[in-house]
Amino acid sequence: MFKTVFKSVVLSSALIAAVQLHAATTKQAPVVIQGALDIETDRMISQLKGVKTKTYGGWQFWEGTYQGYPIVISRTLMGMSNAAAATTLAIEHYHPKAIINQGTAGGHDPELKVFDIVLGKESENIGAFITDKKVLGEGSNSLTWHKSFNLLPKNNTPEEEIRHLRFEGDSKLLAAANSLKSTYTQGKVVEGVIGSADVWNNELDRIQYFHQNYKTSVEEMETASAAQVASLYKVPFLGIRVLSNNLTNNGNYNPGTGAACQDYVLNVAKAYLAQK
Ligand code: 5AD
Repeated sequence: MFKTVFKSVVLSSALIAAVQLHAATTKQAPVVIQGALDIETDRMISQLKGVKTKTYGGWQFWEGTYQGYPIVISRTLMGMSNAAAATTLAIEHYHPKAIINQGTAGGHDPELKVFDIVLGKESENIGAFITDKKVLGEGSNSLTWHKSFNLLPKNNTPEEEIRHLRFEGDSKLLAAANSLKSTYTQGKVVEGVIGSADVWNNELDRIQYFHQNYKTSVEEMETASAAQVASLYKVPFLGIRVLSNNLTNNGNYNPGTGAACQDYVLNVAKAYLAQK
């Protein structure tokens, strides 16, 4: 009896030591979670343990763990160029297993309410156009503009990869994000299309144009840019956006939505890292 107990104690201690050694030697790559503003990052940062901060140029990073899983929070700053720069820095410095870009967004779909969350099955740059020629005095009508780049001939060169404007969300990240749907109590969680540009659209005809022609669920200013950089590095990527406003159904701006999205996304990152 004593022998058996002794044996199992020795064996389980050996097992624990082996697991600890494995964890120490095979340090898991982190998930980088991006947010443009403090209202889109502060809550996540406050939930990390053992935080180390780094600043490269104007871009700040917080490296730590969330419930034992390695996470890096990146404050990208606002807009497409900032998002691209922050994504490049994140990949070169942290070699992440995946990147999630999250934060607030404006609704294009009248079915979506403030606090609903959109999982970006796709994201697209909605700021790239070529216009028809018009003479002086003929004016300008953005509803007649053409999507740029897709007018260029298709080929399989690397430049073609750089030119495309629509990016697919990673299926494993999407699965992790979908698996937590029922835990979200402040609204609904749906898959959709995230449109990105350095523009805040308040013209309802313009918003409807994007919703009809690009099938956008929401608009914001970072996701498609980060997705483009991640795709060229072949790093799995997903955009997750909470509606902070929706002009199509009188949904007034609510900055409190940023915290709700951060809580959801931290748990998506954890579920994703726990997958394998
Ligand atoms: N249009 C554009 N960007 C929006 N954002 C929130 N709502 C909108 C909207 N309706 C996000 C952008 C940017 C900041 C202005 O908030 O991603 O970072």
